[in-house]
Amino acid sequence: MTNEEYHTLIQPYADANEVLLARLNVLKHNLYSESSGQPIHNIQNRIKKKESMEEKLRKKEKDPTVMNAKDYLQDIAGVRVICYFVEDIYNLADALKRQADLIVIRECDYISSPKPNGYRSYHIIVGIPVYCLDGMEYFPVEVQFRTMSMDFWASMEHRILYKMEREDREKIAAELKEYAEHLVQIEGRFGQYNDGNSVLKRTEEKENIRS
Ligand code: GTP
Ligand code: MG
Repeated sequence: MTNEEYHTLIQPYADANEVLLARLNVLKHNLYSESSGQPIHNIQNRIKKKESMEEKLRKKEKDPTVMNAKDYLQDIAGVRVICYFVEDIYNLADALKRQADLIVIRECDYISSPKPNGYRSYHIIVGIPVYCLDGMEYFPVEVQFRTMSMDFWASMEHRILYKMEREDREKIAAELKEYAEHLVQIEGRFGQYNDGNSVLKRTEEKENIRS
């Protein structure tokens, strides 16, 4: 694919990313009251680079064309939502899934079922409606919900090991798995400081105002 083709291809994906970021922002205000702590520590988003698209297509044994990128890559647009507590992840993801105009393309809960290497994260690929002159089309955005500790582990593992050949790979992988287990414990202990279910709290507040 040429540079020009790449830039035309990614535009609606970048638009889909923006729509999703706006939705998350609105959810943040609606689910959590001012007084309860905020659910999101930070959000990152990216559009897959041309080289990385071509490499992934090559791995899938597809020609690196625009058509194949659209057909076979569901992570051209990506958003990573780093939350404070595991509960925040499920609150946000559930609320997102309830939005009737979005479609859920794929969902993978690596929190309830971590990968064998210890990777934890909640992945959901949502189809975002993007409107243009010709009408509407759904564009996929891969959303990864993580806590800070999940993100810490995944970032380190990605840096040290993921998709990389190393002689001492097995030894390091075993060590990383052990760290992942420690982090689950620590995360659980931080979880006890989560001051209850913020969503319920918000509902109660509304009821108090009404009565
Ligand atoms: P990819 O071909 O890597 O995109 O995997 P997939 O299509 O099978 O989807 P999956 O949901 O497993 O992974 C999607 C993304 O999650 C990856 O591109 C990474 O950003 C992240 N991820 C998945 N597994 C791991 C892992 O073991 N370690 C780290 N650091 N990140 C991971
Ligand atoms: Mg990917």
